[in-house]
Amino acid sequence: MKPKIISWTFGVLFCAAFTMSAVPGVAAKQKNMISKQGQKCIECHEAQSPAFVKEWRISPHAARGVDCFSCHRAQKTDPDAIDHYGFTVSILVTPKDCSRCHAGQVKEMTASHHAKAGDILNSLDNYLGEVVGGPEAAAVGCIQCHGSKVKVLPGGQLDITTWPNTGIGRINPDGSFGSCTACHARHAFSKAQAREPDACGKCHLGPDHPQTEVYQESKHGILYTANKARLNMHKDKWVVGKDYSAAPTCTTCHMGATTNQRATHDVGTRISWTLRPPVSIKLENADKRREDMKDVCSSCHAAPFVEGFYRQFDNLVGLYNDKFAKPATAIRKELIERGKLTPADFDEKLDWIYYELWHHEGRRARHGASMSGPDYAWWHGIYEVAKHFYTAYLPEVKAAAGPELYAELTKRYLEPDIRHQWYLKGMSKEELEKIRKYTEERYGKGGGTTK
Ligand code: HEC
Ligand code: HEC
Ligand code: HEC
Ligand code: HEC
Ligand code: HEC
Ligand code: HEC
Ligand code: HEC
Ligand code: HEC
Repeated sequence: MKPKIISWTFGVLFCAAFTMSAVPGVAAKQKNMISKQGQKCIECHEAQSPAFVKEWRISPHAARGVDCFSCHRAQKTDPDAIDHYGFTVSILVTPKDCSRCHAGQVKEMTASHHAKAGDILNSLDNYLGEVVGGPEAAAVGCIQCHGSKVKVLPGGQLDITTWPNTGIGRINPDGSFGSCTACHARHAFSKAQAREPDACGKCHLGPDHPQTEVYQESKHGILYTANKARLNMHKDKWVVGKDYSAAPTCTTCHMGATTNQRATHDVGTRISWTLRPPVSIKLENADKRREDMKDVCSSCHAAPFVEGFYRQFDNLVGLYNDKFAKPATAIRKELIERGKLTPADFDEKLDWIYYELWHHEGRRARHGASMSGPDYAWWHGIYEVAKHFYTAYLPEVKAAAGPELYAELTKRYLEPDIRHQWYLKGMSKEELEKIRKYTEERYGKGGGTTK
């Protein structure tokens, strides 16, 4: 008899499990698993804001009994607790709240630069945003990407100058940093959606960090668009080379799992340079970081190909750093030290030219080279850097310095680099003749545009 009972019980359990996961059974299962409080939230919110509830129902949370109350519940002593129809809840659901069930992801995210993105208050850009522009613009600009310091009003309501906000490094009233909804839109909290390049595209685009545009231009972006249907974004595990092979997305390279590495929420672990400051520098443990990125590439490329890519990338960063960024930075510093420029930023034309040189044009060149976007490396990148260095920056330096000091500065900072000879001394007769001949051969006599 005994074995029979066991198999009967097992059979019932098995059937129950089966019906629960089959579509018609889902609602019944959810009803059984959700808390009494959660049930109340759902009943009322189904009428008040049905879309939240609908999105939640399709999430793995609903299927596992993680309901409205599990996430929004608060202690009376929490700074942002509100009384809400007899319940104590908070509007914010911070990484600290998620960490009750996802400690690993929260730890990685907290260790990353993403969690520090709200810490821009003392930066040069923030001076630009808050003072040169204005705080109203910073509120709907900078801090929507970087994250606000969310302020709580008496009674637990959130100050509307700092909320709504899902910036990546949001400073939360409970002391935690970041916002998980920055990538996982509520209330589906899907990982498939976060794997899409567009999830990063809210912030990683535009004139100063066009990673989305660079990606779209790259072969990788082209192949993503062409092969979306077979990238298996909905797979539970998403290992490159195993679960998909047609193209990498941002997630693949910066967060995704390979056959050797697990997925990570620390997006910075695989980058070896920082391409953001005026002069790029290698990060600590750069070699190890680069090895981890190369491991991703190696799922789809041969080692010598990847080596070649990195050589070209490093060369471009070196060109930008040494030919343009270092002399421009040193010259400006000296002008300030000699009292030819004010120490304040953005009050003189030269400050703006310098800022755009590194913060916009120079970054674009570096970002283009780092992710195979030739138009950004050259036309939006080094072309603009060179144009403005020679035709805007140096003339402005001359105007500020006067002819004598200008001659001294160019002698010290430009002459030693042979790559500036063409500008300082003009193009040689031979070079001009070579170009003339090429043009004539290609377009016929008088057909070219070169003099
Ligand atoms: C009797 C109806 C009712 C119940 C029960 C209810 N809510 Fe609400 N809730 C509302 C309404 C209506 C709003 C819209 C804002 C308002 O008027 O307070 C709202 C707003 C909210 C907000 C946003 C508040 C803001 O200021 O932006 C959250 C978060 C929330 N509810 C969560 C919950 C949770 C969690 C539960 C269950 C513990 C719950 N609600 C139970 C009706 C209800
Ligand atoms: C997995 C956790 C989680 C669950 C489950 C959850 N929420 Fe939320 N909810 C969030 C997060 C995160 C936010 C965004 C707040 C933030 O940025 O910190 C949010 C925001 C909200 C808001 C205010 C935002 C707006 O757009 O007005 C309401 C209202 C809300 N939730 C209601 C609900 C209701 C109702 C349920 C149940 C059907 C529910 N939530 C279930 C995490 C959750
Ligand atoms: C009470 C526990 C609990 C809380 C709180 C919670 N989750 Fe979950 N979450 C789960 C469970 C259980 C699953 C399903 C099993 C799994 O994938 O780990 C899940 C799955 C997920 C997934 C995977 C979704 C997919 O497509 O497979 C994401 C993303 C996620 N949660 C994000 C969050 C975020 C963000 C928060 C905070 C706003 C949060 N969770 C809060 C328990 C929780
Ligand atoms: C569209 C979203 C967005 C807006 C708006 C925005 N930023 Fe950023 N910011 C970013 C991203 C993304 C990065 C990282 C770029 C990279 O890694 O190449 C960044 C980088 C920075 C950095 C460099 C951080 C470091 O560690 O080197 C500072 C400082 C900064 N931003 C401040 C500001 C300020 C201040 C404003 C407004 C005046 C602003 N940002 C507007 C998205 C944005
Ligand atoms: C920068 C975007 C981004 C942010 C911010 C982010 N996630 Fe994720 N998350 C992802 C991506 C992408 C995946 C899928 C990774 C993969 O390919 O498996 C993911 C997967 C997950 C999973 C599923 C893990 C698994 O192994 O199945 C959970 C749980 C999760 N995230 C929780 C969180 C929590 C909690 C936070 C806030 C601390 C958070 N995420 C913030 C992008 C993000
Ligand atoms: C094929 C792999 C690959 C893909 C796809 C990819 N990246 Fe990158 N990314 C890189 C490499 C390689 C670097 C430079 C690494 C280094 O410094 O060694 C980089 C650098 C970066 C940086 C650092 C920039 C800085 O200022 O220091 C950011 C931010 C970034 N990528 C974001 C993105 C975003 C957003 C996407 C999608 C739109 C994306 N990446 C797609 C490989 C990739
Ligand atoms: C809500 C805005 C936002 C979203 C969404 C976002 N990022 Fe970022 N990201 C930033 C900001 C801001 C920084 C600069 C942080 C700093 O250094 O202060 C940054 C920095 C980075 C860096 C450099 C990290 C380092 O250690 O230097 C990488 C790589 C990156 N993001 C990749 C991604 C990827 C991949 C995604 C999508 C899966 C993504 N980000 C989504 C805003 C965002
Ligand atoms: C999921 C597979 C996959 C991953 C991962 C991947 N690539 Fe690619 N990559 C491709 C494919 C496919 C092509 C297109 C080859 C062709 O032209 O037929 C490509 C093209 C390229 C090209 C040529 C660009 C051009 O315009 O011709 C470079 C350079 C490159 N990848 C570098 C990298 C680097 C560096 C990494 C790691 C940081 C990487 N790839 C990661 C699949 C991948």
